[in-house]
This record gives sequence, structure tokens and C-alpha cells, in this order.
Amino acid sequence: MIAERQRRAFRRDGFLALPEFASPAEVAELRAILGRLFSRRAGLAEGHLIDFVAPEIDFDRPHMLQLRYPCDHATELETLAVRARAHEMARQILGADAIFAFDHAIIKPPHDGSPTPWHQDIAFHDAWDRHLNLTFWIPLQDVGRDNGCLHYLPGSHRGRLEPHRPIGGDARIHGLEVPRLSSQGAVAVLLPAGGLSIHESRTLHYAGPNRSAAPRWSYALAFKRRRRDWLHRWRFGPLLRDPLAGLIRAD
Ligand code: NI
Repeated sequence: MIAERQRRAFRRDGFLALPEFASPAEVAELRAILGRLFSRRAGLAEGHLIDFVAPEIDFDRPHMLQLRYPCDHATELETLAVRARAHEMARQILGADAIFAFDHAIIKPPHDGSPTPWHQDIAFHDAWDRHLNLTFWIPLQDVGRDNGCLHYLPGSHRGRLEPHRPIGGDARIHGLEVPRLSSQGAVAVLLPAGGLSIHESRTLHYAGPNRSAAPRWSYALAFKRRRRDWLHRWRFGPLLRDPLAGLIRAD
């Protein structure tokens, strides 16, 4: 499903965008399943439902709701064809031993949905278990600059792990950010509903605020290699090659 030239582009840029991935019926089904989970506040007790950019959720005025591990709360997500297709594409990029890692869903509310600051997904991994993975990001409506499309820095996956901190330096906040980053050369990825954007765990990315009148929904699936990736750990482990890189804790 992924052509050799697309694989080359992915290796060069650290991301790949495809305009067609999920059908309108599949988008509607994902929205229905996730909508039920958000409306019953699934995952709240487990700490899986959070406001990504705030210390706690204000349900009257959320900034950016994230449900981590929705498939733990709605097992029908495990058997969707969307997931099987993403898994097959992950095998084509990572190798035959690619396995599902986790999923998450995000709703940015209308008018003032928060931006997602620049970050590398690998900064969210435990420092002793940094590994290469792939995120398959599916917008559940059209996404453009007005409602929070993704932006990437091409080639950044070949660079180092940038120093991250909790957003705004507030240690109570789950979301991480690279506080000082030149985003020169960043590419905005505009996609229709059901499109797909794939990125590597080191690729620097950002998502804009949602200024539109409708909520911005997304569903993401992550895959990783089953085998232990010693080379990657060597490069991105906490104590070895980049002793000063990695997380900056809040003051
Ligand atoms: Ni990310």
C-alpha cells in the first residue's frame, strides 16, 4: 500500500501525508465510537482523559481534550479495518515485526481550541525506553490552517532529541513543548476528513489552534517494533550519546 517512492520520502522527511485513507463511513464510525467515549467521560478515573495543555480538565471550558488508550475503553476499535490497514502500512515501513503500541483521540473545541506546541513524540516515552515508533494521525473532518492541521519540520527525525519541558513550564501539565525552536521551513499538512499523516517519533511537529466554529477531532494509532531497538536506545538513551538532551523538568 506504500509505494517505494513514498517510503523514500518518509525516510527523507520523517513524515508522509496521504489524502485518502479512511472512507466517509469509517470516519463516521470513528466519530460515533469516540463521541460515545468522550460523552461518558471514559478514562477519567484512570487518568486517560486529560486536558493536554492544562493542569486539570474544566469540562465547561476545555482547551484540548485527549483520551489516551481509547481502545481500552471501546474494544470495537481493535477490529476496525482502519487499524488493520494502518498496521499493514506500519509493517511496510518498520518491518514485519511492527506491533500496535497505543492509540489516542483528541478534540480541540471550536473558536479557541489550543495549539499543540512543537514537540517530538519520543519525549513522551520513558527515558529508559525510548524507541522508534510511528504515529498514524487521522483527521475526522477536513483540517487546514484555521482548525489545527499538523505542521512538520522535514528531516528533523534525523536530528537530536530536543530539550522538552511541560507546556509553559507547569509540571502539572501532561503536554510537552520545545520552548525555543525555529520553525523555519515547517510544512503545513492540509488534509480532508479521513486523510492520513504518518510521522516518526523523532519528527518535530506542531498543530495549530482551532479557530473554526466546529470542534476538531483526530484519532491516532501508534506502532513500534517488537524487537528491542538497541541502536535507537544508544542514540536516544538518557545517559549515553546525548547526556544533556531530553527532558527539562519544570522549576
Ligand atoms: Ni505528537
